Amino acid sequence: MQTETFALLVKDHEMVKGIIEDLLETSPSAKKTRLELLKTLKKELLDHENLEERVVYPPLESRKATRDLTLEAYQEHHVVDQLLEELESLDFKDEAWKAKLTVLQENLLHHVQEEEKELFPKAEKALSKDQLKTMEQQIAQAKA
Ligand SMILES: [Fe+2]
Repeated sequence: MQTETFALLVKDHEMVKGIIEDLLETSPSAKKTRLELLKTLKKELLDHENLEERVVYPPLESRKATRDLTLEAYQEHHVVDQLLEELESLDFKDEAWKAKLTVLQENLLHHVQEEEKELFPKAEKALSKDQLKTMEQQIAQAKA
């Protein structure tokens, strides 16, 4: 059972995955498109991570059922951030650019999968109805 609590975060996941797919289809000569998409990716990714780390992770970190997965999630954000930084400092024409973006995509897909299939369902069991409702409102507020 998936409640509405995390629906907006799942929507974010879909959007970010889409931006990466678009980026992977660009050619090394499409510098302007790569720059613009990369800028969008960074903004969406960082906003999303900040929201999760501010609103979602703290209450889950303090519960036994969700603690380990939450600690992992912070680290996964960190790895994705690092890959993004490295990507930014690489030359667009470099062969490694696409390879690094692919590794970023793999890391992100793993993280998103773990949240959607494990962390969020566990959170729905570990938190009370009121807590979930509050979280849902905080997420909606931040997205507004
Ligand atoms: Fe996340």
